[in-house]
Formats: sequence, structure tokens, C-alpha cells
Amino acid sequence: LTSKDRAAKKFARRFDGRADLYSRYRPGYPDGVLRKLEEKIGFNGKKVVADVGSGTGILSELFLENGNAVYCVEPYGEMRRTAEGRLGKFVPLFRSVAGTAESTGLDDGSIDLIAVGQALHWFEPTKARKEFGRILVKGGYVSIVYNRRREDGDAERAYARIVHRFSKSRAEVPDVDDTYVARFLGNSEFGKYVIANSQRLNLQGMLGRLGSASYMPPQGDPDWIGLEEEVGSICDRYGEDGVVVLRHRTILYVGRISKM
Ligand SMILES: C[S@@+](CC[C@H](N)C(=O)[O-])C[C@H]1O[C@@H](n2cnc3c(N)ncnc32)[C@H](O)[C@@H]1O
Repeated sequence: LTSKDRAAKKFARRFDGRADLYSRYRPGYPDGVLRKLEEKIGFNGKKVVADVGSGTGILSELFLENGNAVYCVEPYGEMRRTAEGRLGKFVPLFRSVAGTAESTGLDDGSIDLIAVGQALHWFEPTKARKEFGRILVKGGYVSIVYNRRREDGDAERAYARIVHRFSKSRAEVPDVDDTYVARFLGNSEFGKYVIANSQRLNLQGMLGRLGSASYMPPQGDPDWIGLEEEVGSICDRYGEDGVVVLRHRTILYVGRISKM
């Protein structure tokens, strides 16, 4: 098996059949990510981006809307095809690539910015870092973004209780924190920024959001009856006209890769 096959397999076991829910119901990334990149590294619409572990293209969309050419590197076919459906209107700026973080298939020195959304924890860090160093232009940057659900509001706490109660097994993956990022980049000179983000969900949206997570039971599982009741009561209690706002923080890291 190649590393691409292995990554696709490992991931497929957890995400099979969830790509469509993922594409529809995961929160997007705020424009503030672009503004920060402009301010801090002079990013603009002419830069060439590789979105690595691009999934269904949620992060790529932000850059494509900005006019950037984006190579979407994604090993898992179901995710890739969902992205191709969603982002087809951006061709030729949008290019779909079957590859992995460890072996992207992109040319040497061809990328100005590597963007990674909620995916760094899946990569084999030593190989991915080497590959990133190979495909970036001299002085190119890596940006890593994560949407983290806040835990300090009534609706967010109620949502977290549902996850806690119904989730099955969590994947054994590392927490991507400042230490992990420093180790990955090989230096501590990176910037870290926190940008407010939120997601508005009605009952169907909240069920979709829950169902998109790899650690939740598959939809149709007997547990879903109890889960739907609880989600309904969150929408009644905390929603306005049944729409609940789940507040998030988007964490953005921006830095350069050090030579090994
Ligand atoms: C949680 S999803 C994030 C998708 C997208 N970046 C976003 O922000 O919505 C993680 C993605 O990483 C991909 N992935 C897993 N292992 C990978 C690897 N070794 N190289 C590249 N992508 C990988 C998965 O297939 C999945 O699409």
C-alpha cells in the first residue's frame, strides 16, 4: 500500500458515508482568516494555494471566492468527489488532486501558501513537513486553521452534553496545540490568531452536524431516536424560531517551515 492508500483507508473507516453531511453542516471559515493573512504575510488573490487534506472543500471555498488558484489535495475519494461537485463552478482556479500531505504530487516550489483545515492531526508529521518544504516557494507559508466549538454558553454546553452522551469511539489522533505546531514547523516564530465564528443550525442542521462527526453513531442507528429527541429540545429551548447559534473560535496559525 502507498501512503496515499493507507491515509484514505484509515480515514474512510471513520468517515464512510459522511462526506455529504460534512460538506453541508460543518461550519465554514470566516473572512477574518483572509484579512489576517493579508495583514500578516501580505497574502492576496494572486497567490497560489494548496489546501492539503481539503476534504469537501470548505476551506478551499474561502480562497477560491477570493480569486486564488487552489490545489485541493485529498486522498479520500468520497470527500474529493463531494468537493468536485461543490467547487466545480470555480474551475480552472479549482484543481482537484488525489494525493496526501506526505506525497502531494505537486511540483517543487510551486505553492505560495499551504492551507490546512482541521486536518493536521491526520498527517505523518515528519514526512508531511518535508513534503511541504518541497512544494513551497522560497519564503512560502503554512497556515493551519481549526474551528473550535466554544463551551461557555447554554446552547454550546447542551450540544457538548449530547456529543458526550452519544459519541462512540474517538480517533486516536494528537491534539494540535501550540507545541504540536512548533514541532511540525520546526520553529516557534509562527503567529497565532483567534477569530470569532458561528454557525446557525435548525433541527435538521444540528442533526446533520452531529451526524458528520466520525465519533457519532451512523444515522439510522437505534441511538438516533434518543438523540433526535434531545436535539429537538435544544432547538426549542435555545433557538430563535428553532434556529440555534453555536459559537466557535477559529484558531489560525501562520508560519514558515524550518529546514531540517
Ligand atoms: C476533518 S477533514 C477536514 C476537511 C477540510 N480541510 C475542512 O476544513 O473542512 C480532514 C481531511 O483530511 C484528510 N486526510 C486524512 N489523512 C490525510 C493525509 N495523510 N493527507 C492528506 N489528507 C488527509 C481526510 O480525508 C479529510 O478529508
